Amino acid sequence: MLFRPMKPSDLADIIEIEKTCFTADAWSEEDFIYRMNEDTWHFVNLTLEDNGKVAAYLSATVVADEMNIDSVAVSPDYRRKGYASKLINLAIEKARTKFVMLEVRESNTPAITLYKSLGFKEVGLRKNYYERPVENAVLMTKCN
Ligand SMILES: CC(C)(COP(=O)(O)OP(=O)(O)OC[C@H]1O[C@@H](n2cnc3c(N)ncnc32)[C@H](O)[C@@H]1OP(=O)(O)O)[C@@H](O)C(=O)NCCC(=O)NCCS
Repeated sequence: MLFRPMKPSDLADIIEIEKTCFTADAWSEEDFIYRMNEDTWHFVNLTLEDNGKVAAYLSATVVADEMNIDSVAVSPDYRRKGYASKLINLAIEKARTKFVMLEVRESNTPAITLYKSLGFKEVGLRKNYYERPVENAVLMTKCN
């Protein structure tokens, strides 16, 4: 298992995982390229490789003392191995912010369970935050 910064050659695998995980609101290749090309001071983009294959990734934005976890996904073949937990903890270690925030679809019980297991608390609800399908977002925060 190898954690490393995301790189352009990961994109084909990442887009495949993204489409499996998020269907209608999946990010495009351009979305990831933008995050990789920007001056990296405010983005944390991590890839987790398992036996040379992209198994999981995370992309987060860091602003002042807050990190927002914008996307985290694990390929279906590699789930329940602790990979998402490890990626989130590594991003937290790298960013060293006081607060970590994220939004998650209200129906996404696996992700909400994961975040709670890492110490995130539900702190709010953003009404109709998501599109395709429309759904509320649960806002979760962790203080370091
Ligand atoms: C949610 C997701 C990121 C979890 O990744 P993962 O690597 O399987 O998670 P971990 O192995 O680190 O799980 C840690 C804990 O979270 C909880 N958890 C994870 N998946 C779960 C599931 N399907 N059902 C219930 N609890 C779950 C468990 O408490 C788990 O600990 P355990 O395996 O010891 O019981 C993964 O299922 C995924 O990519 N889903 C699609 C994309 C997505 O929803 N991303 C989040 C968007 S906000």
